[in-house]
Amino acid sequence: MAENFYRPRINLTRTLPVQNAYTLALDGEFSHVAFNEERAPLNKGKWRSDVFKVADGTPLDVEIGTGAGTHFAHYANSHPTRLIVGLELKYKPLIQSIRRAVKGGSKNAAIARYHAFNLDELFTDAEINDVFIHFPDPWTSPKKPKNRVVSRRILDGIYDMQRSGSILDFKTDSRDYFLWALEEIKASRYKVVFQTLNLHNSEMKDENFITTFERIFINQGIEINFIRLLKE
Ligand SMILES: C[S@@+](CC[C@H](N)C(=O)[O-])C[C@H]1O[C@@H](n2cnc3c(N)ncnc32)[C@H](O)[C@@H]1O
Repeated sequence: MAENFYRPRINLTRTLPVQNAYTLALDGEFSHVAFNEERAPLNKGKWRSDVFKVADGTPLDVEIGTGAGTHFAHYANSHPTRLIVGLELKYKPLIQSIRRAVKGGSKNAAIARYHAFNLDELFTDAEINDVFIHFPDPWTSPKKPKNRVVSRRILDGIYDMQRSGSILDFKTDSRDYFLWALEEIKASRYKVVFQTLNLHNSEMKDENFITTFERIFINQGIEINFIRLLKE
């Protein structure tokens, strides 16, 4: 990633005036698989060898913004031969996500408290495989697209971090974000392998896992926009 761009910095957990059950779990009970903003970058280039202790050929996927972790835990559980690293900013969903995966018996999941814009501080070029971005904050007010994760600059960085043959899935309830993102994607190096403005009325419906936010939007009758990109 280019260096002359906006790098949001998040607070350090250890400097919080008061710790809570989630921050204590992050640096205690789950510290072997949950990494705060200071410990997470130490794993750069070493997620397979040091965190999971597996061979370099093991696929390592990334989910950005796990929320309550329903997809994260389901994915870890249903793909035991792959690894998944989640990214989440907020303490409560972060712990919910990793707890759900660990309770489900998964040994292939880890999570980091890190801002998606700084993903390149966590992974080297060609370190990761598939990437999932499900219902990221849409930032719909006119001046806010600069905060969107699915944007030209962030896609460019993720592309470099992925291994050839990997996919990137993006789904959102926001048509505004989706149409804006399509233009960003056009300028990227990705190949579009599938796209729809109505995921639940598409051929991908059956293989789709309904996330927590997705369920809420479906109940409100909102169509889900989805795109799958490929790094050839
Ligand atoms: C709308 S929720 C969607 C959660 C989940 N993917 C789902 O579909 O149910 C977005 C999540 O992304 C997290 N998030 C927002 N911005 C982020 C960022 N820059 N880096 C990492 N996580 C982020 C939020 O804390 C929130 O939990």
